[in-house]
Amino acid sequence: MGSELIFRGHEAQPVDDSYSPKPHKPWFTVTRPIHYMLREQRLVFVLVGVIIATLFFTLVPSSSSSSVPYESLPISYFERESKIPAYHHRVAAAVHSVGKVPLGIKRKGLRIVVTGGAGFVGSHLVDRLIARGDSVIVVDNFFTGRKENVMHHFGNPRFELIRHDVVEPLLLEVDQIYHLACPASPVHYKFNPVKTIKTNVVGTLNMLGLAKRVGARFLLTSTSEVYGDPLQHPQKETYWGNVNPIGVRSCYDEGKRTAETLTMDYHRGAGVEVRIARIFNTYGPRMCLDDGRVVSNFVAQALRKEPLTVYGDGKQTRSFQYVSDLVEGLIRLMEGEHVGPFNLGNPGEFTMLELAKVKLGFSSNIIL
Ligand SMILES: NC(=O)c1ccc[n+]([C@@H]2O[C@H](COP(=O)([O-])OP(=O)(O)OC[C@H]3O[C@@H](n4cnc5c(N)ncnc54)[C@H](O)[C@@H]3O)[C@@H](O)[C@H]2O)c1
Repeated sequence: MGSELIFRGHEAQPVDDSYSPKPHKPWFTVTRPIHYMLREQRLVFVLVGVIIATLFFTLVPSSSSSSVPYESLPISYFERESKIPAYHHRVAAAVHSVGKVPLGIKRKGLRIVVTGGAGFVGSHLVDRLIARGDSVIVVDNFFTGRKENVMHHFGNPRFELIRHDVVEPLLLEVDQIYHLACPASPVHYKFNPVKTIKTNVVGTLNMLGLAKRVGARFLLTSTSEVYGDPLQHPQKETYWGNVNPIGVRSCYDEGKRTAETLTMDYHRGAGVEVRIARIFNTYGPRMCLDDGRVVSNFVAQALRKEPLTVYGDGKQTRSFQYVSDLVEGLIRLMEGEHVGPFNLGNPGEFTMLELAKVKLGFSSNIIL
């Protein structure tokens, strides 16, 4: 039997292509759910629930603030800083003691860069910041700093160490920058004067650029050396100094003066939040021995059981502060309201002879 092709097109139903709109639902079908909710009293329950939740989240204060070790920060600091939105918002979220952090969620620490953090002062600063719960990134080229100064933080997830020279740019997301990177003792900063001034100028420029870019607050560790060979004693911050731009110490003195200038220009011109500390002689554990400064020289000679060398008649005076006091001052300056510059040092002056006799307890064996 042969297959048969059958055309059935003629059986197709005629298509009616005329438009027929969707039939309208009667209006009472829309109101039917409302009627249903009202009838079942569910809407009332929903509304009561919304009101209770609103009252709860508005009136109940956060519980996370009690463990925040920032009691010393005045509330007015945060109110005042509202002019600087980028910094304010992040720091306020992290620190503000009455923030709307949901119950049970702990305060987030700040993210802080410490340049020169493997050095003498920097490593003590890092210890304090880590101890109060912040996350710290140390940036150091180990010119005078040592890994041993921060090794005790290795393994802490809130600590990072980057070998980097601040003369090269760097991008990090942080809330605060403590800029310490610079050799501090004459022996070290005279070793390569061009590098010293580059560190002070280009390095500071790079860190200020970073602060501007990420909206971080920036603290510069300047020095009492900006007063040069001062004609005023003691030096007030308003004193402009008596400086020598061409001497062998100028790479440091003038470098720091330029760093201060850059810091203020970024503050005035770009709205960067800045702080300037002018540090006076500081001593304490981890300072370099034999670095040309009097305390470390005396300590080194005493450890070697050598007589202490006092230059001149020993009546010249200096002030000395302990490193933990300096670190306290730096943190208060960073968290405080004022830009500075601030002198950070011990107001009491000692003669070199007093230092040798009283401070180090060596009344004999002094060479003048
Ligand atoms: N210690 C004091 O008595 C004193 C006094 C006045 C000012 N200061 C200032 O305080 C800061 C710290 O001083 P310190 O006594 O701890 O000195 P330090 O030499 O012990 O520390 C300086 C740190 O900066 C690092 N560093 C230097 N150049 C760098 C670069 N180009 N890039 C990255 N890291 C670099 C060093 O390796 C070191 O770790 C310095 O800025 C110094 O000028 C210190």
